[in-house]
Amino acid sequence: MKTKLTVVAALVICLLAFVYKATAQNTKEIKKIETGDKKVLIVYYSYSGNTKQVAEAIHKIAGGDIFEIKAEGTYPQDYNEMVQQAKKEITDNFRPQLTTSIANIEKYNIVFLGSPNWWGTITPQLSSFLDNYDLTGKTVIPFITHGGGGEQNTVKDMSAQCKGCKVSLNGWTGYGKSTDGLEDWLKKLGFGK
Ligand SMILES: Cc1cc2nc3c(=O)[nH]c(=O)nc-3n(C[C@H](O)[C@H](O)[C@H](O)COP(=O)(O)O)c2cc1C
Repeated sequence: MKTKLTVVAALVICLLAFVYKATAQNTKEIKKIETGDKKVLIVYYSYSGNTKQVAEAIHKIAGGDIFEIKAEGTYPQDYNEMVQQAKKEITDNFRPQLTTSIANIEKYNIVFLGSPNWWGTITPQLSSFLDNYDLTGKTVIPFITHGGGGEQNTVKDMSAQCKGCKVSLNGWTGYGKSTDGLEDWLKKLGFGK
């Protein structure tokens, strides 16, 4: 009985630590973006719609232009097969051909860049975007949606792949399509009323 209780207590502590880690990023101190004349672009990839919803919520408050990354290729209907294909693509550093494009990316100085967490990192479609566009000198604000794992290596990998840009460490990390606290986060960054 005592052993069982100890195991249950240990599991509860692990669960609480996991939930804390997954949500803690949105409680960190947010610094204001000091760029004077803000020319905002919101770019995102979304497979099942969560990141799209967060992107649209950011757009409503921060304004600017919004762009959805689309790329060649399809994924299997079966979820397990789909996640295995995505895993292989990430392991192989696969870069799908983009099928949507942005004109005049140079006119923006702030880019909100959104991706789901896939196997702890950003998606191949987002990596293709970073390979294809020069974001040198721009401030990039990541927004990541996840299924419980939090940010993991997403922002670190985004920074490494975004040559010459300044990736803010004050990005958004949210579970699924949750936008709880999004307005407050944007306000602290200097967007919205
Ligand atoms: C291929 C694949 C891999 C995933 N890997 C992770 C992961 O490593 N950690 C995590 O927390 N969530 C993971 N998820 C869950 C997604 O990050 C989460 O559902 C996200 O909000 C989906 O965004 P979307 O609807 O914009 O595609 C994964 C989902 C898929 C489809």
